[in-house]
Amino acid sequence: MPKKPKILVFESNAELAKAAAVIFRDSCKAAVARRGLFSVALSGGKTPAALYAALAAPPFRDAVRWRETHLFWGDERCCPPDDKESNFHTAFVNLISKIDIPDDNVHRIQGEVCQVEPVTAAALYEEELLSFFKSERPAFDLVLLGLGADGHTLSVFPGSARPNPGKLVTIGKDQLGLWRISLTIEAVSSSAKAIFLVSGKEKAAILKDVLDGKKGLPAAEVDLANGELIWLADKEAAGLI
Ligand code: 6PG
Repeated sequence: MPKKPKILVFESNAELAKAAAVIFRDSCKAAVARRGLFSVALSGGKTPAALYAALAAPPFRDAVRWRETHLFWGDERCCPPDDKESNFHTAFVNLISKIDIPDDNVHRIQGEVCQVEPVTAAALYEEELLSFFKSERPAFDLVLLGLGADGHTLSVFPGSARPNPGKLVTIGKDQLGLWRISLTIEAVSSSAKAIFLVSGKEKAAILKDVLDGKKGLPAAEVDLANGELIWLADKEAAGLI
């Protein structure tokens, strides 16, 4: 019987971002106390920008151990890192450019390589994950996830071919036919904690479908074997649940 996910509803996206920043800060504190470092996979799209901005300002900027924090990405668009569509770019502008984090702690997916050679870029990222986690399954301390209006998460879209078991990184085309690189759903299953950030009334119908367990929706397939999955939604997105 799948575990019932925890659902937290907030008055606004700003409140949601603040709650997510508290989870980020506390996950970092616990991970650094336990093993001296904190690994987190950032999500893409627009929703996390408010969280990144909260983390880049007091009190969170000064509470998070950035020098012990390792940033990864759940997925990336195949474009240069300075492209406004790049998930790295969103995190760089709102967070990375404002904190004291060593360059080596920023494990960017090379979108510019993916533009030319998606398979090579995916292999490079898989290599980076395997060498950092020294295991065939990354055990992130925290994974941030978004929810697309079609039920996708990361860049795993409904109807996309499922990768072979054990695969950590996959490539595929998005709704606009643009190449993306993504962690597989399986790759996040060993994480200690994953939080979905869902904001806006345009997500209300899909959030209900996902939480009702509707078939064929990648976001509904996220299942942490021994970790904690929490849904953070603002009131608009939670309007139908
Ligand atoms: C991406 C994502 C994707 C995103 C959702 C929600 O690269 O687009 O990682 O999974 O999280 O599409 O996007 P918004 O936050 O922009 O609604």
